[in-house]
Amino acid sequence: MRQYFAQVSDPHLSSLAAVRARDLLNKRALGYLSWRRKRRFEHRPEVLAALARDLADRELEQLLVTGDLTHIGLPDEFEQARQWLHALGDPAAVALVPGNHDACVAAPWQDTFALWQDYMASDGARSTSGVAADFPSLRVRGEIAFIGLSTGCPTPPLMATGTLGEQQLSRLPALLRDASERGLFRVVYLHHCPLVGKEKWRKRLTDAAQIQALLEEYGAELVLHGHGHRAHFNELQTRHGTVPVIAVPSASALGLHGADVAQYNRYEVARREGSWELRIDARRYQPETGDFGEAGSRTLLLHRNQLNS
Ligand SMILES: [Fe+2]
Ligand SMILES: [Fe+2]
Repeated sequence: MRQYFAQVSDPHLSSLAAVRARDLLNKRALGYLSWRRKRRFEHRPEVLAALARDLADRELEQLLVTGDLTHIGLPDEFEQARQWLHALGDPAAVALVPGNHDACVAAPWQDTFALWQDYMASDGARSTSGVAADFPSLRVRGEIAFIGLSTGCPTPPLMATGTLGEQQLSRLPALLRDASERGLFRVVYLHHCPLVGKEKWRKRLTDAAQIQALLEEYGAELVLHGHGHRAHFNELQTRHGTVPVIAVPSASALGLHGADVAQYNRYEVARREGSWELRIDARRYQPETGDFGEAGSRTLLLHRNQLNS
């Protein structure tokens, strides 16, 4: 059995062209200036249109979206992002976790994350109480368990940190253990980098040490994140084997100001004797053609003892 899924991140897809001055109190004013000066030239609708064309060609069990759909987390941006998600696919096939830009300032849940609720939901669940109750999320497709974590939370100006919090950290071990006992390929996806010391201090996950320790203890087969707008490949050694930790650049970026040009990764998973075979295909935006194209691939063999039984 071969299964396919993909990760896109940080589309920053919303336009602030119609924003009103009264919406720009607090931290949002700085974010708005950043959009006026830089971000609207970097994150482009034509790149997202090319992304949608490229994704439509693929047979995907799940499309994982790892946050930062907006710039300053305004209700109108949440609505723009909801329409973008709707065009990408059914909520059962598109799974979302929030980013720090989406949770930039505290905002009424009904006007913001409630609009994305179906895309953040676990299989068979429909929470109405807020983001914290929705995570970790769990979706199982064939032999793959997709476990989503939310790291977006309001931060002081100029900070882009994230936090998982006690509630998610305490729920995660049982999810990882149960999925392992069921012989599933566990994909953990979140916005911020979960590894200690890999991200700048003002952009770090404040409880990276705790999540890294949990991953080392309970294992996973693959960890995916965004936030840095750069492609990264790391490996975490755990009691259960090596776990690739992979980041993709922004899905909408032209690559100005030193950032990577838009890219996403497609994954193919197949069970082997005592291991999982994981093929990674990078797809990158090609400004010359206006389409996404091949940008390298690699195949990993992930040995797992529980698959021998
Ligand atoms: Fe971002
Ligand atoms: Fe971010």
